[in-house]
Amino acid sequence: MTKGLFITLEGGEGSGKSTQIERLKERLEKQGYDVVATREPGGTPEAEKIRDLLVQRDGGRWTPMAEVLLFFTARIMHVEDLIKPALAEGKIVISDRFTDSTRAYQSAGHGLPADQIEAINALCLNGFEPDLTLILDIDPKTGIERSLKENQTGGTENEDRFEKLDLRFHENLRQGYLDIAGHEPARCKIIDARDGITQIADQIAQSVFDKISAR
Ligand code: TMP
Repeated sequence: MTKGLFITLEGGEGSGKSTQIERLKERLEKQGYDVVATREPGGTPEAEKIRDLLVQRDGGRWTPMAEVLLFFTARIMHVEDLIKPALAEGKIVISDRFTDSTRAYQSAGHGLPADQIEAINALCLNGFEPDLTLILDIDPKTGIERSLKENQTGGTENEDRFEKLDLRFHENLRQGYLDIAGHEPARCKIIDARDGITQIADQIAQSVFDKISAR
């Protein structure tokens, strides 16, 4: 059976992931690839229910560890019900966020010990990681301004919990992503998200085609 390719896009608020995922999906489909675009938290009916608990205004107040466990509960369902079956059919799966978001937000951002997150990850996913992770890097001020503008123009109006956190949090988050990329250079690639949409899309497509041809 041909094995597909699992790609994740990561980054702070306003880094432009959604637009880039649409662009990448279009490019890959033009080349004849079968592509599934998905997101975290979410991606399956059960995981989308958990998303509501995590990101909506009235979703509840969770302790940091409870929050991590909810992200992983959603992730298990996403991996088992959607990602692995699609990969087994030889598809390319592109996910807007995955475990690196938990590493960056809950550990680098909120200070949960990294080894606890890795222990939960090992237990829940048994070493399952993306083949390629593209980290859209942007200075937090610019990113937050962009994302607030998006919300004003009719974006995800119910989903504002995480964007209200302070600038220091977003700086730690950015550093968290840079550290992940530093530790895993074979899997992760940093993309400068200040560039224009088309330039960024070109860089992302290049990284993906490089990964495909290296396999
Ligand atoms: P989104 O804004 O990219 O749709 O993601 C929803 C929010 O959830 C975003 O602020 C990041 C946050 N998040 C975490 O804190 N940890 C995680 O593991 C994931 C997947 C998302």
